[in-house]
Amino acid sequence: MALKLLIVDSDEEWLFSAKEYFEELNYSATLVSNGKDAQVALYNDSFFAVILNVAVQNHPGIQVLKFIRSNHAAQKVIMLTELEEGVDEEDQWTIEKLVKAGANEAIVKPFELCDLKGLLEGHQSVSDMVSTIKKRSGVSAEEEVEAVDDKFTHVRIDDFYSSKAVLFDIFIKLKSNRYIKILHAGDTFSKERIDKYKTEKNVEFLYFDKKDLYKYVKFNNFFAKNVINNPKAPSVLKVKMLQNVSEKFLEQAFSEGMKPQIIDQGKEIAENVYELIKGDENLYQVFRSYSDFDPNAFTHAYLVTLFSTSIIKQFEWESKTTIECTALACMFHDIGKMQLDKTLLNMKTSDMSEEQLEEYRKHPELGLELISSNSLINNSVKQIILQHHEHYDGSGFPFSKKGAKILTLSNIVCLADNFVHIIQDQELKPMEALKVLLTNREELPWYNSKIVECLIKVFADPAKIRKEMYLPSNSKVVNRKAS
Ligand SMILES: [Fe+2]
Ligand SMILES: [Fe+2]
Repeated sequence: MALKLLIVDSDEEWLFSAKEYFEELNYSATLVSNGKDAQVALYNDSFFAVILNVAVQNHPGIQVLKFIRSNHAAQKVIMLTELEEGVDEEDQWTIEKLVKAGANEAIVKPFELCDLKGLLEGHQSVSDMVSTIKKRSGVSAEEEVEAVDDKFTHVRIDDFYSSKAVLFDIFIKLKSNRYIKILHAGDTFSKERIDKYKTEKNVEFLYFDKKDLYKYVKFNNFFAKNVINNPKAPSVLKVKMLQNVSEKFLEQAFSEGMKPQIIDQGKEIAENVYELIKGDENLYQVFRSYSDFDPNAFTHAYLVTLFSTSIIKQFEWESKTTIECTALACMFHDIGKMQLDKTLLNMKTSDMSEEQLEEYRKHPELGLELISSNSLINNSVKQIILQHHEHYDGSGFPFSKKGAKILTLSNIVCLADNFVHIIQDQELKPMEALKVLLTNREELPWYNSKIVECLIKVFADPAKIRKEMYLPSNSKVVNRKAS
């Protein structure tokens, strides 16, 4: 079923071209040219989104926005505005002002309709995405295209999952800047075709436009949720699916910045992290044998998320809120590195010069700066990011905080962060990395010992831990004698 749009603008020519464009994309559009008619339309019908020019007459746009906010609080509204050159910003409706006034998004005219399409897609649920896709019967022919490599992102062919109809175009790479479109948006997903490329042509990766990352992440997170909540699904698959979606999510966040939809998506992923950590008793086995040594920053952030939240799970005070909040902080803990010289992003600290180290040590504060004005991120997340390199013995940065002055959650993330560095930098399996961490006399005082104890428990069978806990201490002695 098509998603309904209400488009309100006094420029009739533009209205008709927008209608034509969006109907081609399987939306349906109701057009009105003034604010009063917009309110009547809203009274009579419901819409997926309202696209509203602030400058319309006969009930000004801003009055219509207020009407919507007081009568249809959840209605998505995208405001259009035109800025006049030479007029003071104070006297114009800027994007910031419109968002403050209650718009979900705002965009300055003139713009390309595909930019408006992007804003709309950012608000679609998975079922919205599936319903707007124009389904084609069968599979379209292959099409060779020339496009710059920078436009694309890729996933391993084995990690690609799809709905029945493909949500966006999928390509394979021929050579630099040359691709073949193997499935078009709306095609019926063809496993045969994918398998053919895999087995006959040894294709390892599938490519798609970076603009479609949002759809990819949204769909895969939805899919991961179903798998995570399925008690029969193997734990290793759950961990892998969440890794895949988290890495692509971080790629999008690092390239597009902290937009509201990105934060919302991050919260949805954090919920899945919680479900995984809470519900799966066999995770310790996956952790013991984990062996993905990819040193990239996105894998790093995912592993820090996984181990930090698993440590929290060992504490009696663990809760859904604490785990989700820490998961979000872990995903963004190194976001401040975006502001640093690119060469530092994947560099080991042991390879850095004194000058580079000084630069690197700024990243917690830079991270805080990047998100400080974001009202969707709560203060605990901000503090975890700021303090994730503080050490329990006072030897950390940026403030050399000590002991109880450091947030416990930050010290947990600090431990998980360094633990993951040992895994990635030295290419060690977690159990070997644990040995390295526990025998490092210099660095062990960086962490509260209770937290280290909980990291060890992450690798133990929870059923065994419970059994030990419930046995009275003297019965352990009896047990030992008996065996
Ligand atoms: Fe860091
Ligand atoms: Fe880190």
